[in-house]
Amino acid sequence: ELEYFFPMEQTVACIKPDGIGTKDAIIDKIHEAGFRIAAQKETTITKDIAEEFYAEHKDKEYFNDLVQHMCSGPTMFMVLSREDAVSGWREAIGPTDPEKAKVEVPDCIRAVFGSSVLENAVHGSSDPEHAKKSIEKVFGHLEFNSDGTVKEMKPVTEQEE
Ligand code: TYD
Repeated sequence: ELEYFFPMEQTVACIKPDGIGTKDAIIDKIHEAGFRIAAQKETTITKDIAEEFYAEHKDKEYFNDLVQHMCSGPTMFMVLSREDAVSGWREAIGPTDPEKAKVEVPDCIRAVFGSSVLENAVHGSSDPEHAKKSIEKVFGHLEFNSDGTVKEMKPVTEQEE
């Protein structure tokens, strides 16, 4: 009998300002999906940080609304650890549009907690390279144990000195 293993991996998840009111229920879903929250940080991001975070979308017509929304209240940034975390978290959150999510994946996070494409409750890194960059930006340089917990942490400020 064959068994398949994925390596332990990290991704970045955010509970967006519209999801903060249902934060505890979203965190329950995160644990139910088998993720460990290795690090977390709740903060209201500035316009500059929001623009940088969504830099790839700067030419889209929804960019200003997106940036404004992301600055409208606190965001919870999390590092999630699990086997196959990047694609696993994308699967757990579901399609970008909660209306589409409700039809296609009724129990995914965006179907349950999102209300529109803009207010879709959560973010997830699209690939491991992005995840790594986002982790560095938000949390500093992190190293992980094989169980997904943080082994070592160098804060951003310390690194810049
Ligand atoms: P995108 O990277 O396409 O989706 P995802 O969040 O699933 O990775 O878009 C990033 C965010 O931009 C999305 O979560 C919400 C916002 N957005 C809009 O407001 N309108 C849109 O039409 C799209 C495609 C995205």
